[in-house]
Amino acid sequence: MQPVAQNNWLLYCRPGFERDCVQETRAKPIETAAGSGFVVLQGKPRLAYAQLAFARQLIRLHSEVKELPERDRIAPLLAALPADPPQFGALWLEAPDTNEGKTLSGFLRRFQPLLEAALIGAGSLAQDATLPRLHIFFPDKNRALIGSSNPGNSAAWPMGILRQKMPHDAPSRSCLKLAEAFEIFLSREEQAQWLKPGMTAVDLGAAPGGWAWQLALRGMKVIAVDNGPLKGAAAQHPSIKHLRQDGFRYRPRQPVDWVVCDMVEQPQRVAALMADWVASGLAARAVFNLKLPMKKRLEALADALGGMRAALDGKGVRYRLAARQLYHDREEVTVFLARVEKRGKKLP
Ligand SMILES: C[S@@+](CC[C@H](N)C(=O)[O-])C[C@H]1O[C@@H](n2cnc3c(N)ncnc32)[C@H](O)[C@@H]1O
Repeated sequence: MQPVAQNNWLLYCRPGFERDCVQETRAKPIETAAGSGFVVLQGKPRLAYAQLAFARQLIRLHSEVKELPERDRIAPLLAALPADPPQFGALWLEAPDTNEGKTLSGFLRRFQPLLEAALIGAGSLAQDATLPRLHIFFPDKNRALIGSSNPGNSAAWPMGILRQKMPHDAPSRSCLKLAEAFEIFLSREEQAQWLKPGMTAVDLGAAPGGWAWQLALRGMKVIAVDNGPLKGAAAQHPSIKHLRQDGFRYRPRQPVDWVVCDMVEQPQRVAALMADWVASGLAARAVFNLKLPMKKRLEALADALGGMRAALDGKGVRYRLAARQLYHDREEVTVFLARVEKRGKKLP
């Protein structure tokens, strides 16, 4: 067992985005193989998960076991547990989100109850969601990185991936992306309050209709703006009205509860449009996708978000802004923007 230096971190990310994940933290890279789906960093006493767009998970690294014996993996792992925290609220055995990582899933499933029993026997594991989680990450079967995550500063799902089932009648896979965005950016209470039947939404760049369908599924009335056709259940849905117009020019007559936007366009342009909708009160909240096909993705994202902040600050708007590369995002990042009213003044 090898204890790692203080202030070391293990972050998971979409394979291929390791460099963005490192750059964003401004920490010293220790292990950052391209395509591996994880990075090890050093030297930052604190990192805030909510402020990292490219990290799927944020884990404080405690130790590493390099040569796990095949016959008894449990004893060396127990010996490598940190003294602090003294007890964990959950055990998550994880592997990279890569083809090689997927070959470990059977082993992880079989190993989980064995290690869990040993941890409970040693008094190190309790069923308590407020305690730090124990992560044992296997880059391969013989090597384990041992760390912990704080439930208030990490993703609430194993491997940092929210798994969802594809509804059978959805018009496109991207309907899951909007569902994921709501889960990731909104608390349970906010979802209950802000995603109610009868609310109104505009979907810019809506075809073939996955996002519009997702909103209609929640009982919202949706205006779907796109020159292209809606398909399947979205084309038939009585709560979805399709307008063949330019999404950059369209404006609703009445303010709406939500604007969502998935137009394939320059990130700066989409961000400016969304800032305008929210700042002018046309929409209370926005979810939108910023496409990042360029080499300097982090810079493009920072420019887009920086431009938005400047526009909103310049207009004296109070807002909440969060950006994350979702599991369903490829070369892109999804953003949530909401107007925050002064105390006493309620949003619909
Ligand atoms: C990635 S797709 C949207 C997928 C959609 N969110 C879904 O769930 O099915 C992008 C769409 O944006 C539309 N689009 C691009 N530029 C547009 C513009 N200026 N006005 C309206 N739609 C636009 C394209 O026609 C395309 O259908």
